[in-house]
Amino acid sequence: MCGIVAYFGKKAARPILLEGLRRLEYRGYDSAGMALLSRKGIKVKKTSGRITALEKILDEKDDSETLGIAHTRWATHGEPNTINAHPHLDYTRKIAVVHNGIIENYSTLKTWLQNEGAEFASQTDTEVIANLIGYFYAKADNYENRKQSDSKNKFERAVQQALRELTGTYGLAIVCSDFPDMLIGAKKGSPLVLGIGENEYILASDATAIVEHTKQAIYPADNEMVIISSKGFNTKTIDNVMVSKNLKQIEFSLEQIELSGFPHHMLKEIIEQPKVLATCMGGRLDRTNNRIKFGGIDSCSRELTRTRRFILTACGTAFHAALVGEFLLEHLARIPTETEYASEFRYRNPIIEDGTVVVAISQSGETADTLAAVEQAKERGASVLGLVNVVGSSIARATDAGIYLHVGPEIGVASTKAFTAQITVLTMLAIELGRRKHISGNEAKKYIEQLSQIPDKISQILKQSDHIKAIASANVDKDNWLFLGRGFNYPVALEGALKLKEISYIHAEGLPAAEMKHGPIALIADSMPIVFIATSGPQYDKIIGNVTEVRARGGKTIILATEGDKNIKQYADYLITVPDVPEFLQPLLTVIPLQLLAYHAAVLRGHDVDKPRNLAKSVTVE
Ligand code: G6P
Repeated sequence: MCGIVAYFGKKAARPILLEGLRRLEYRGYDSAGMALLSRKGIKVKKTSGRITALEKILDEKDDSETLGIAHTRWATHGEPNTINAHPHLDYTRKIAVVHNGIIENYSTLKTWLQNEGAEFASQTDTEVIANLIGYFYAKADNYENRKQSDSKNKFERAVQQALRELTGTYGLAIVCSDFPDMLIGAKKGSPLVLGIGENEYILASDATAIVEHTKQAIYPADNEMVIISSKGFNTKTIDNVMVSKNLKQIEFSLEQIELSGFPHHMLKEIIEQPKVLATCMGGRLDRTNNRIKFGGIDSCSRELTRTRRFILTACGTAFHAALVGEFLLEHLARIPTETEYASEFRYRNPIIEDGTVVVAISQSGETADTLAAVEQAKERGASVLGLVNVVGSSIARATDAGIYLHVGPEIGVASTKAFTAQITVLTMLAIELGRRKHISGNEAKKYIEQLSQIPDKISQILKQSDHIKAIASANVDKDNWLFLGRGFNYPVALEGALKLKEISYIHAEGLPAAEMKHGPIALIADSMPIVFIATSGPQYDKIIGNVTEVRARGGKTIILATEGDKNIKQYADYLITVPDVPEFLQPLLTVIPLQLLAYHAAVLRGHDVDKPRNLAKSVTVE
């Protein structure tokens, strides 16, 4: 949700910042801007629209500057127009700021600043930050009578004074026209990474904008700031206490975030699922002892065995993975489990008893509601685990212990490989906890073997991509779809509907199949596409009953069935098959055709698959 990137070094800042913005564009893409700094002052260029629109209003004439800050926006305060685009200048036009996050007390601060004579041009909360820093800076200017030796500290101090007034979240990059060799970054609740290259620094919302230049980075903590100048960098708290940070290695490669010949990141991420899921399991499946090992939860291994209740909490696609996790943990580990939207959990006065373990599931590790749910659970004394993809992200750091997904960066806004990895990790966790209680060694061995074969089975399903495209093509003009499944496949139906909605803008509803007759059946008419997940399992006959109810009312059935099911053909207008696996492993397979269906429908409708309208990959606002 908004991407910020800043550069200070010896090279031209403009092309580096533009490339950084392209890498961060998945975080928001309704407007963009850049501020470049030289001895002549600050030059700000910004526009509504994508990074390509910004690129057009910048040119090589802008390449003498080696310090700059840039932003790609997902609007929260004020519509996505040029005035509201970042960077924002303060009323003295000396300070420029780019911001990711939300300032909750901006309205009070704005009124106060206006009474002090500060003028505002935009509707954003960010302009308050610029004006607040500008206000303290101007005050120090008048008061101190310009003691040159202390002047850099004056900029730093003004930033600190301003940040102490803010309530809310921020990842910030700030420059001041009086110091064309100084860049300040600060963070609270929003992500920020400082990449440290040879004589150059890149400050960004995430490491995707940095990895091309250096793999060495530091991750400032909340309420910390980094001060970068020609003499190097240092880290302090906003209360001016020096802190030392360890250098960390960025763990992914440039190749992992590039399209590598694919038309879209989403398709690349769908296709790479067999490979990345094998990596996610790699080293964790201990076939000798029929166990599953997770390094990240060693510290609370005993406590986990004693878990009396799990609460899984997440948002969006991760929430659907959590719902599958509820089935898995109850079925395999026999531990009572509830799944909660993080946004609801945090405001619900939840009951946390002794033995309750809260598991926060998040691809980005930055989703504001999930992070807030983690804090809420900790306050109430729960042990909190994180299932997160992005290493070092806020949720990874806020939780007591965790399991990384290890599927590499996910760039497509519609989550795919993170979903299957979340389910893979939950399956491993459920098998391992079940093994510690009641699952026999032989059963555990069988489950581990079956799980390890999933990547190959996904590869087989991916071969049906053209067939699925033809089904999408035959139905893409229909504006309402239903997705129905039962048991383990009910959350997959929800996920199939979400995928279609997100990227093709077709209205779709996911439901437990039996619920259809309690309302949604009224919608069925006129060849409405109904996707059924009717794979083998205890509920097979029941779902066939639901299929016939739909066909009797004129619905068109797209059925996902188990390979070799000859009976099903008579019920299917369109048939997609998946290999036979036990019911608890089916979500890992049945979701694949639904990802492809949504992908092809969106492409056929001519949409920007990787950047669907109004969405952002990482929702860092509540
Ligand atoms: C956004 C994305 C979804 C994602 C959800 C949760 O809404 O568009 O694709 O599932 O956030 O994100 P997380 O990073 O916490 O998994």
